[in-house]
This record gives sequence, C-alpha cells and structure tokens, in this order.
Amino acid sequence: MKFFIDTANLAQIKEANELGILDGVTTNPSLMAKEGIKGNEAVMNHYKAICEMVDGDISAEVIATDFNGIVEEGKKLAAIHPNIIVKVPMIKDGVKALKYFSDNGIKTNCTLVFSAGQAILAAKAGATYVSPFIGRIDDSSWDGVELIAQMAQIYSIQGYKTEILAASIRSALHIVKCAEAGADVCTCPLESILGLLKHPLTDIGLAKFLEDAKKTA
Ligand code: E4P
Repeated sequence: MKFFIDTANLAQIKEANELGILDGVTTNPSLMAKEGIKGNEAVMNHYKAICEMVDGDISAEVIATDFNGIVEEGKKLAAIHPNIIVKVPMIKDGVKALKYFSDNGIKTNCTLVFSAGQAILAAKAGATYVSPFIGRIDDSSWDGVELIAQMAQIYSIQGYKTEILAASIRSALHIVKCAEAGADVCTCPLESILGLLKHPLTDIGLAKFLEDAKKTA
C-alpha cells in the first residue's frame, strides 16, 4: 500500500517525507485555506513547492464544477509539474472530465466518493485514483472500511485499473484496516502516520535494553 500525506502544510510534508515512506501528497481547498494560501498565483506556487519537495503523485483539486471549467483548470494544474494529479469531484460533469483527462493522458483522482456505485463510475471513466472518504462515512454511522473492501472486490472482479485511495483517515487503526481491506493507497494526516509507530511494549522494551546496555559498556 502506498502512503500519501493529506495536508498542504509544508513542515508536515517535510517531516513525513524525511521518514522515507512517503509516496505522494493530497490536498483539497479546505487544506489549502487552512494554510492561508490565497489567490490563484499563490495556490499554483504552493503546488509547485510541494512537487519540488516530494517525488510522488501530488493531488491538486479543481474548483470548477462544469465540464469546460474543470478541463481548463485541470490542464493548468497538470502543467505545473509532471507529478500533478488533477483532483475532480464525483459529479456528472466531473465524470465527463475524468474520461476527457484519461483520453488525453492526464492523471486524475476522483474525490468525494461515498458509494460503490460512484466508485464504479469513476473507474469506468478512467480515473487514475478514486478517493472514498472513510472518516466522513464513519461519521454518518456507516462503515467506511467496508466500502474499501467492497470496492476492492468489485475492481478485482471487473479488472478495473483505478487505484483505491482511502481518504478522510482519522486514526492509525483506519490505516491498518484500509490496508487489510485492499486499499492501494492511504492518504493520512501526519498524526495518524506517526500513530503507527506507537506501542507501549516497544517503549518499555527499549528502555530495558538501553538500561542493560550500560552494564555491557
Ligand atoms: C483527501 O483527498 C480528502 O480531501 C481528505 O482526506 C478529506 O478528509 P477530511 O474528511 O478529514 O476532511
């Protein structure tokens, strides 16, 4: 499973990248706003900065919701860097745009996916990645990880090449469950990635080893 970090914060991206396990970055308009990025030029420059930091797929989301607007904006985003993945919402014109981008060699990430039906449409349209929002599904008392498992089964049976990018991750356990359910990629907040490190027995064991090492010094 590939690891992406789900943030537009450059310090967090740097920290995750330095771990040596980072395969890419996802952003969205909310994450960009959180960093105080304002204006088209600043947005473009921020994507460029992320692309220069991480050698991997970088998702940049379109704001337009009509076919022509999505295509125009997607082309501009794709021109920033070869690693840009154009993030397109799961709406009717978005599906049309996914097909257009797929036919024209532009990689995409279909975002705001909450059902298997939407995941089938995105795959049929040739999306490179599809992003089911696990945490937001859990928030509405459905099971987000179950959707990952269902999608993995459908994509395998149907031979779809689209990669399942588990998004809206809220915990280290989510990452483990998504890996188990067949996600190809997990995009996570830094906190959840670092959460994978934690086990009290590791800390207790290390403290004991270091204490005993003094006896052999
Ligand atoms: C990633 O592509 C999504 O935009 C993101 O994971 C959404 O996460 P949230 O539900 O925590 O906002």
